[in-house]
Amino acid sequence: MKNIGIVTGASSGLGKGIAIEIAKGFDIDELWLIARRKERLVELGKEIYENYGVNVVLMSLDLIDEKSLQKISERLESQKPNIKILVNSSGFGVMGDSSEMNRKVQEDMILLNCKALFSLTNICTNYMSRGSGILQIASVAGFCPQPYFAVYSATKAFVLSYSMALSKELKKRGISVSALCPGPVNTEFFDICERDAKMENMIKKMFIKSPNFVVKRAIKGYLKKKTVIVPGITMKLLSIIEGLYIKQLSSILAYKIYKKFN
Ligand SMILES: NC(=O)c1ccc[n+]([C@@H]2O[C@H](COP(=O)([O-])OP(=O)(O)OC[C@H]3O[C@@H](n4cnc5c(N)ncnc54)[C@H](OP(=O)(O)O)[C@@H]3O)[C@@H](O)[C@H]2O)c1
Repeated sequence: MKNIGIVTGASSGLGKGIAIEIAKGFDIDELWLIARRKERLVELGKEIYENYGVNVVLMSLDLIDEKSLQKISERLESQKPNIKILVNSSGFGVMGDSSEMNRKVQEDMILLNCKALFSLTNICTNYMSRGSGILQIASVAGFCPQPYFAVYSATKAFVLSYSMALSKELKKRGISVSALCPGPVNTEFFDICERDAKMENMIKKMFIKSPNFVVKRAIKGYLKKKTVIVPGITMKLLSIIEGLYIKQLSSILAYKIYKKFN
């Protein structure tokens, strides 16, 4: 059976960086790269094949479209591979006053950041085995409600909560789930995020990290099977203030109570 990796959002930023690290260091036969921009995927696929000898499957898909998820599902069903790693990095955020911002854009944010991430995770777990893992790209924005980033922070709270709970459910199958929660990272994310914003993101200016820094920590945390990965000391401190450890303890407690009574 073929061992594969799947990375969404592979055309830029964190997804691209993580895809390269997987090609470099993971024992896989094939890497599926997913995003909308085909030319970017072709470029990355070439780089990965030439430098690391890993076969790539390029899937130029809009994950907001249900048909895209169907295509992935059909391909998986016809090939029945073993998914060693799934990385859900496709996502975007927009800043501004939620009641004044375009509703369709905000709905798309929910569809991509939450619905597509859930659906793909749900589809892929059917093709995973002991030793497989899932790396979800959440955000420190998911730790607390953020005015003027209201919908984005809510989508990332969903990713974080879903991933923390799923990690307990999949433990019995030997499948790890890690939620990466970076602070601001210097990627194309802010081109979209700040496009229509009337305010400057001060937090971004003060704490921005390079994609390379975050990708390295993401892989390290994933290999250690950490449930939540928070890169950088400042964001770690922020996560303590915002009660991450209480959330983690609560989810362990909820799991133990469920197991005791079921
Ligand atoms: N940068 C930050 O400060 C930061 C901080 C915390 C968390 N994050 C999260 O990290 C993840 C990656 O973001 P990034 O920083 O790497 O930004 P990025 O460079 O803008 O990457 C976003 C990726 O999502 C893909 N994408 C967007 N819409 C899509 C769609 N409809 N269907 C399929 N793919 C789509 C993009 O590819 P195409 O445009 O080619 O489709 C791109 O590859 C996101 O989930 C983001 O929320 C980012």
